[in-house]
Amino acid sequence: MSVVEQQARGAETSSLALRAALDAPPGHWFFGHLPDMKRDLLGFFSMCERDFGPVVPLRLYAVPFYLVNDPALIQAVLFADPSKFVKPTAFKAVKPMFGDGLLTSEGSFWRKQRALIQPFFHKQCIDRYADVVVRSTAALMEQWSLAESQDAYEDLSNVTLDIVSRTLFSGSDIGEGRAAVLGAARGVQDFFLRWRRHYMPVIPWLPFPAQLQLRRAVREVDRVIYKLIDARRASGERGNDMMSLLLDAADAEGQTMSSRAVRDELVTMFLAGHETSAVAMSWGLYELVSSPRVTAKLRSEMAAVLSDRDPAVEDLPRLPYLDQVVKEVMRLYPSAYNIGRVATETCKVGDTTVRRGANVIMCQWAVHRSRRHYDDPDAFVPERWDTERARKMPKFAYFPFSGGPRNCIGAQFALLEAKLILGTLIRHFDIELEPGERPTVDAALTLRPSLGMRVRVRRRFSS
Ligand code: HEM
Repeated sequence: MSVVEQQARGAETSSLALRAALDAPPGHWFFGHLPDMKRDLLGFFSMCERDFGPVVPLRLYAVPFYLVNDPALIQAVLFADPSKFVKPTAFKAVKPMFGDGLLTSEGSFWRKQRALIQPFFHKQCIDRYADVVVRSTAALMEQWSLAESQDAYEDLSNVTLDIVSRTLFSGSDIGEGRAAVLGAARGVQDFFLRWRRHYMPVIPWLPFPAQLQLRRAVREVDRVIYKLIDARRASGERGNDMMSLLLDAADAEGQTMSSRAVRDELVTMFLAGHETSAVAMSWGLYELVSSPRVTAKLRSEMAAVLSDRDPAVEDLPRLPYLDQVVKEVMRLYPSAYNIGRVATETCKVGDTTVRRGANVIMCQWAVHRSRRHYDDPDAFVPERWDTERARKMPKFAYFPFSGGPRNCIGAQFALLEAKLILGTLIRHFDIELEPGERPTVDAALTLRPSLGMRVRVRRRFSS
């Protein structure tokens, strides 16, 4: 070891010893940990996970919050009674967009809505939508056959938007709705990005630019969605889609949902269900493009099982490597990369007292890339999921879709979509990044690639 290396190692050891004596990294006297979070949110949470304890007390200005790193404690928070840990304040700020949809509602209303919507995500229903996934992927392949240079992130966002629109409103022409929904998604992302600059409390009626943009996006979305709801109510027609399920749903007293409640659930599904999946698949393509070994192994599994067909939903149980690839993508790129909750009463999380009203954060990015749970954690190695270590891993060392009563209702749908789309694209195309393209992760509301992802695509065979 060179002298420089010895000195560096010595400095590192003493800094670790110093950190071990603290329970959290020192924050700025006034801003707390805001500057660290603004500089590099993911890097900061990863450092806290690596160098500090199971629960790290942090602060924004004088307001304390807690980063929970230990999988058993994450599980305890996520499985606690949902009235003890409610959705974070930031969600209230985007309430004008999501209303009382599943993602943002609480209490008995949320429980009733969740029970009502759950059947739509049962396996038989999801499998029926595989057809929609296949058709939307075919349209993308046609587009990719016409030109070599493409933005994979933009294209996959369009595909997932297409899929989610057809599953929510099959048969209705959402036409101009596409632009409104994309504007809404952008409005919500931008709102979060601006809010994250200062993490100040949000006063919804103040005319800050981000709030004005959000309100404009809400007006656009409302115009489109209410028009679709009114047309469907007027025609009395019902289809095999979520709008029909919501319009016909009645509670125990026979009360049906108001147009406002139907709108809130549809907008929530639209926004929760398209960007997250597009982000995951974009990073999936990126890893496949960067790893010819994994791509070749995946192609040979598909060739052995499917011969010359594309994967269909019935084939998925016979494609274990495809399953591992998607699992590994969701480990390295959990699109919704952290989960927040607010404690409604003072409680203990492990040995730490969390005061009533304090935020608790669980960061999938930090836990999924931790050496405590994974060998060579930043490497893309799908085979790791077929090892003893993976089988013995604590359950919540991997939680891309959260867990407990408020887990992702669309998880199985998202996995099906990712497997069918990535499998099909890799079968048909040789894909490489455009020269000089270095996509970077932008921790906005989701882990989107900051400047898109430009790729070159070439058809491998002509069918
Ligand atoms: C790769 C794709 C996806 C990822 C990584 C993801 C992740 C998540 C996570 C982590 C949560 C929990 C948030 C929290 O507790 O604060 C969540 C909730 C939710 N997700 Fe997903 N999601 C994905 C796809 C989808 C899809 C396709 C849909 C619908 C079509 C969807 C609909 C929802 C809804 C409605 C909730 C709220 C559930 C509730 O609170 O009852 N998600 N998602």
